[in-house]
Amino acid sequence: MRLLVLGSGGREHAMVRALLRGGHEVHWGPGNGARGDWQVFPDAFNLDRIQALSPELVLVGPEDPLADGLVDKLQQRGLKAWGPTADQARLESSKAWSKQFMRRHGLPTADFAVADTLEEAQAAIRRLCDHQGVVVKADGLAAGKGVVVADDEGSAVAAAQELLEKYGRLVIERRLLGEEASWILLLRPDGFQALPLARDHKRLRDGDQGPNTGGMGTVTPVGSPFALDKLGRDLFAALEQEQLNYFGSLFVGLLFTAEGPQILEFNCRLGDPETEVLLESMPGDFLQALHGEALGEWQGCCLDVVLAHPGYPEASSPSMRIEGIPEEATVLHAGTRRDEQGQLWTAGGRVLHLVAHGKTYEEACEKVYAVASQITFDGRPAHYRTDIGRTLARQR
Ligand SMILES: Nc1ncnc2c1ncn2[C@@H]1O[C@H](COP(=O)(O)OP(=O)(O)OP(=O)(O)O)[C@@H](O)[C@H]1O
Ligand SMILES: [Mg+2]
Repeated sequence: MRLLVLGSGGREHAMVRALLRGGHEVHWGPGNGARGDWQVFPDAFNLDRIQALSPELVLVGPEDPLADGLVDKLQQRGLKAWGPTADQARLESSKAWSKQFMRRHGLPTADFAVADTLEEAQAAIRRLCDHQGVVVKADGLAAGKGVVVADDEGSAVAAAQELLEKYGRLVIERRLLGEEASWILLLRPDGFQALPLARDHKRLRDGDQGPNTGGMGTVTPVGSPFALDKLGRDLFAALEQEQLNYFGSLFVGLLFTAEGPQILEFNCRLGDPETEVLLESMPGDFLQALHGEALGEWQGCCLDVVLAHPGYPEASSPSMRIEGIPEEATVLHAGTRRDEQGQLWTAGGRVLHLVAHGKTYEEACEKVYAVASQITFDGRPAHYRTDIGRTLARQR
């Protein structure tokens, strides 16, 4: 089958590799510095070019083109796409809309209010802030920079003022406590398939210290204190009622509280870096799984450790020379580019994803960190967290 993957990060590299394992003709654009058995499709978001290629399926990776209606445009041209239309993508692109959807259907989520002015935000903060604090979120897509978890009313109001100026509408939420997990559902109009739970590590430094990032590493599987079958069924029924049961991925951000699982948020695409560990350890064919074919038993443990530019998350320049990637390692590319001589350079904040699979977390940790220590940016070690999977390794 001729397939086109759109996007340029580690998530898309993992998707492309998974589709190639299924024996398909894979085109990838715009891509990055990674090399492999796919065909490069440089003018990625040009609809005429896509139509001329006539892929049997277009898989859209990132959120921005989905929110901008790329799938609508592909469908108008008679092309089949994997991803939501712009209307359906409001589950991610508007937090106010998505919280109201959850409320309409009685799905478990933190109490909230929508605020368009500072006065409304202050009133909502007064109502929802307790001794645990409160959460202030920008309504629209903000590339991971639109959420402030505030400890008290004062800092919440300051955050609300700043986010209102930058992004407009806000969602104010009660702050919940518990462990987080990423739950990815492969949706189809007639059903869904849930992937094992994964956990992202958002903070820059070990021990969950330092600023928030797009994700510094992931692990799968992680345990759940609750069975999730009912939540999955209720969620799908709600999606179906509002014609949101699109052919694509729904990422459900979960928080396990003392009262049960709560939905923190939806993303309408595969998570990054969750996809890297899930697809690299998937026991079956990715494309068939999208179409509803049951996957086999998931085996072992999988880790992803992100190598980041030293300036990340504030800066990703200057571009640095990448060396020392071992041939046999599973290294997915995110912010990389190649020059005419074939030399690899950093071209973004999160540069490489090192993925390792093992029977245990201990084994996966050993493998991944042996690779991490060999790779250099301008001759120096890259920045990475050294604790991804370590707690789980100790527990087993
Ligand atoms: N109600 C809440 N209680 C406690 N923590 C929360 C709450 N809502 C969000 N958070 C924290 O803030 C983080 C970001 O929130 P959210 O997932 O809504 O934002 P996002 O910017 O859409 O994230 P992503 O980039 O992963 O899509 C969550 O992963 C969680 O750690
Ligand atoms: Mg989100």
